Amino acid sequence: MELIDGKLTSARIKAEIAETVAARVAEGHRAPHLVAVLVGHDGGSETYVANKVKACEACGFRSTVIRREEDVTEDELLGLIDQLNNDPEVDGFIVQLPLPRHINEQRVTEAILPSKDVDGFHPVNVGRQSIGLPCFHSATPAGIVELLKRYNIPTRGKNCVIIGRSNIVGKPLAALMMQKGIDATVTVCHSATENLAEVCRQADILVAALGRPGFVTADMVKEGATVIDVGTTRVPDSSRKSGFRLSGDVDFENVAPKCAYITPVPGGVGPMTICTLMQNTLRAALGEVY
Ligand code: GUN
Repeated sequence: MELIDGKLTSARIKAEIAETVAARVAEGHRAPHLVAVLVGHDGGSETYVANKVKACEACGFRSTVIRREEDVTEDELLGLIDQLNNDPEVDGFIVQLPLPRHINEQRVTEAILPSKDVDGFHPVNVGRQSIGLPCFHSATPAGIVELLKRYNIPTRGKNCVIIGRSNIVGKPLAALMMQKGIDATVTVCHSATENLAEVCRQADILVAALGRPGFVTADMVKEGATVIDVGTTRVPDSSRKSGFRLSGDVDFENVAPKCAYITPVPGGVGPMTICTLMQNTLRAALGEVY
């Protein structure tokens, strides 16, 4: 069993990006600039945005965080997005989700120009990704594919079973894994899937992305499979300073011994998602996509 080290891989990718950026800055270009819009004070969102700022520093990017209070109106937020869409100093921006309930997330997502949507959430980017056109990739699926590539894990003709059909992980990952060049045979499972354990046992690559701690047990995993754990549920843990720990969707202790490769939580898929954001922002600054 080999552990897939997302933290190390992500550090390497950021160093590669930093090299590209340093060379460009030396040629007189300005650094790529990412803006994050943060509404309210959700603990998870604060942490994500702080990590994105740190990643920008590691990559040599400029970053700006724009904060709005919980009671910001949808119109005010749409006005801010319009400003960022038209600001030539901003290469890409994200609006951190979730948003307060009085704001329509879909309307906000669709207000972002696809050419600045470095989260890859706009339907234009989702659609372009699904038919293999240049686009900003969705963070988690692209991070997973990058891990598989860097660990030389074969995908061509392999059975890839994905548990979870969310718009930000399951669906876009299915589209990527079946793409020409990756060539996996993809099955997507969800809450209505019959004989789930049996389907999972067919997987050469099993991706758990449903958000239920410890859901994937050893009896669901084929000997020699690669298991990718996308779960990051906060479970109470009084022994931690934060009062919680992150729990994956895989019963790691019992599943790991059966695997060829497995990602830990934390330190597996998580750190890779921010890498995709950095890669997308660099490509936005280079004008590589639109
Ligand atoms: N909330 C949780 N993950 C993400 C993400 O990747 N992007 C944004 N904008 N919000 C999130």
